[in-house]
Amino acid sequence: MNEILKKAEIKHILKREEIIFLLENSSIDNELFKTADRVREKYVGNEVHLRALIEFSNICKQHCKYCGLRTENKKIERYLLDEKTILNFAKKAVNYGYKTVVLQSGESDSYSTEQIINIIKKIKSLGLSLTLSIGEKTFEEYKEYKKAGADRYLLRIETTDKDLYKKLHPKMDFENRIQCLYNLKKLDYEVGTGCLVGLPGQTLSSLADDILFFKELDADMIGLGPFIHNPNTPLKNEKGGSFNLALKVMAITRLILPDINIPATTAMETLNSDGRIIALQSGANVVMPNATEGEYRKKYALYPGKICVDDTPAKCTTCINSKITNIGRTISQNYGISRHFIKRIK
Ligand code: 5AD
Ligand code: FES
Repeated sequence: MNEILKKAEIKHILKREEIIFLLENSSIDNELFKTADRVREKYVGNEVHLRALIEFSNICKQHCKYCGLRTENKKIERYLLDEKTILNFAKKAVNYGYKTVVLQSGESDSYSTEQIINIIKKIKSLGLSLTLSIGEKTFEEYKEYKKAGADRYLLRIETTDKDLYKKLHPKMDFENRIQCLYNLKKLDYEVGTGCLVGLPGQTLSSLADDILFFKELDADMIGLGPFIHNPNTPLKNEKGGSFNLALKVMAITRLILPDINIPATTAMETLNSDGRIIALQSGANVVMPNATEGEYRKKYALYPGKICVDDTPAKCTTCINSKITNIGRTISQNYGISRHFIKRIK
């Protein structure tokens, strides 16, 4: 067996050069995926945690050059679900057996902090675990959401290459994004971050730095996927990221952060029809099925070709459940709190 993988499987430490070596060489890819799968089984078991994703608004004030929700994109119709609809989707998620709801939206001030707090409280009263993914907010706002009952927060760093970050995120501040992540940690959220793989101008060494950043932040969850070029963005003529490279970054992340939660992401399945299952067999232990209904799925157009846009939450629930059980894994019946988080806050 490859010496680097052998060491990583036991010690969960990799040097920058070793990560680059793994990313550069394709001859040991299968060994890498199998090693990540063993580490996943040893540390977080065979259960797969499902999170119902509610995309409650595609309104966004930011300008991320890869993203279809960017404020400059006039080609999508914007929507904001009202509180009643959000709660209705959350209640249905409970009926489908979900234990966690993820509230995701573009970054906007459409709802005031008080309104968000209200929604959080109502969702928590359904007995759900709640993840927020609504972008950069102030320390005080994060604190208020936490007090209202939010358990987890997802905020991808997207890339740790400062120059690239600046180019891809006009008018945004890299340091502030990092600060947000540390603020969330300080407030005892279960913290999720992650990156895009295959961004134009991104190098393998910058991806190695992304992985090392996840370790340094000591994140509880890492979600990542390939960059998929969107015709309604300035990156429309750029080449997209590859499934295999995204899978490798994910597998290496599992090696060095053995007990975190890692979702098999939708973008992975967009590039490969078995993408989420392959990811679950290469280090991932979470899936986030879409629990948004109707035309909103299509309108939440981060990138083209997003899977399941014409499906219903009922269909996605049955579909993903059977896919998971078919590979001999089980659907978790608990909240699926990150084991890393449990250890970290003790
Ligand atoms: N391709 C792949 N992923 C994308 N995201 C946004 N735009 C794209 C794209 N074109 C991802 C970002 C964001 C998450 C919600 O969706 O990483 O954090
Ligand atoms: Fe939506 Fe398979 S997960 S149809």
